Amino acid sequence: MKRIALIPGDGIGPEVTSQAIKVLQVLREEGLPLAWEEFPYSATYYLTEGRALPEGGLEALGAFDAIFVGAFGDPGVPDMAHAKEILLGARRNFDLYVNERPVRLLHERLTPLKGLSRTDLDFVIFRENTEGAYVGAGGLFKAGTPDEVALQGALATRKGVERILRRAFERASMLPRKRLHMADKHNALEFIGNLWYRTFREVAADFPEVQADHIFIDTLCHDLVRDPAKFEVIVTSNLFGDMISDLGAALVGGLGVAPSANVNPEARRGLFEPVHGSAPPMAGRDLANPLAACLSASMMIDFLGFSPEARRVERAVRACVASGQVTPDLGGNLGTGEAGDAVCRGLRYPGRDGAEWA
Ligand code: NAD
Ligand code: IPM
Ligand code: MN
Repeated sequence: MKRIALIPGDGIGPEVTSQAIKVLQVLREEGLPLAWEEFPYSATYYLTEGRALPEGGLEALGAFDAIFVGAFGDPGVPDMAHAKEILLGARRNFDLYVNERPVRLLHERLTPLKGLSRTDLDFVIFRENTEGAYVGAGGLFKAGTPDEVALQGALATRKGVERILRRAFERASMLPRKRLHMADKHNALEFIGNLWYRTFREVAADFPEVQADHIFIDTLCHDLVRDPAKFEVIVTSNLFGDMISDLGAALVGGLGVAPSANVNPEARRGLFEPVHGSAPPMAGRDLANPLAACLSASMMIDFLGFSPEARRVERAVRACVASGQVTPDLGGNLGTGEAGDAVCRGLRYPGRDGAEWA
């Protein structure tokens, strides 16, 4: 039995998480050995309990086979203190150093770019997930005075950079085009850039079969829009990876369809969540697209060892998109729950509801 900790979180988080659970429920009814337990950690919990997690809360989450998160973010907690402790806390404490964010076109009509087919938009971002600008190094000095100083440090370690590069190269070596781009900014950020660039060259030497190129992060943003077909695996640091994941999402239909996995492959630990946030203006209006959450659930069951079922969820999602059974962000007129039901129908009855298009 694989045990999953569910944290629906804030805003649209609970709405999309409940659709992902419906999908898991279909698979469980078929006999897939899945069990889940829900945790109320959220902005509301933080504001009522005065803390993000109970004593030992993070360790308790670590005892599960996987964690699934909806989204965090609420105007009532403007500094995101609860998300820092739960989401960034889990990434750091469980050493989930790989943030894998696939960017895959589910249907040609979803891209805002002209004349691209599904095979032109199919790459994966490997975002370093534990270091960089996310280590919380720095402070505010003389806060609130005219002499105020803000300092925010970024950190890279040889081990941290090398391990994410190796995972990205390993993936590239298994993909058809064996093509990898490492994005940094070593022309301006000389110290961290230097470490990334040197380590990249060294790791590349161990993977002669991979065609590996360096690209500056600003140029990457340009080329992702002008020539996305050349990308297959992109590896980059934490903050750059955060930014280009939303750009990647925009190329394939928006944040409503972008899934992600935060994993430590050696320790077999994983936290799965959509790339999107809590979208407060959308919350409670039955508008949120649940497909990013469903695809994140698919990544989770793949990680848990159920690859055929993961592929079936992907196919059901693609079928819904092909047949227009989607929320308004993708041009449909379904509510969040109806869109989740459509995915479940596609899972139960493949070949119907447009599944032949998938
Ligand atoms: P956001 O991702 O929440 O939303 C940006 C826009 O994307 C929305 O206005 C909406 O138009 C669209 N969108 C997002 N998810 C969608 C969905 N499922 N279906 C349809 N459209 C969708 O980003 P934001 O507005 O910048 O941030 C809101 C809050 O979420 C902030 O507090 C932010 O810090 C937080 N956040 C959390 C996470 C996370 O928990 N992993 C990720 C990003 C942002
Ligand atoms: C993401 C989010 C988080 C990040 C925020 C909520 C801290 O934007 O997962 O992409 O920056 O990593
Ligand atoms: Mn982000």
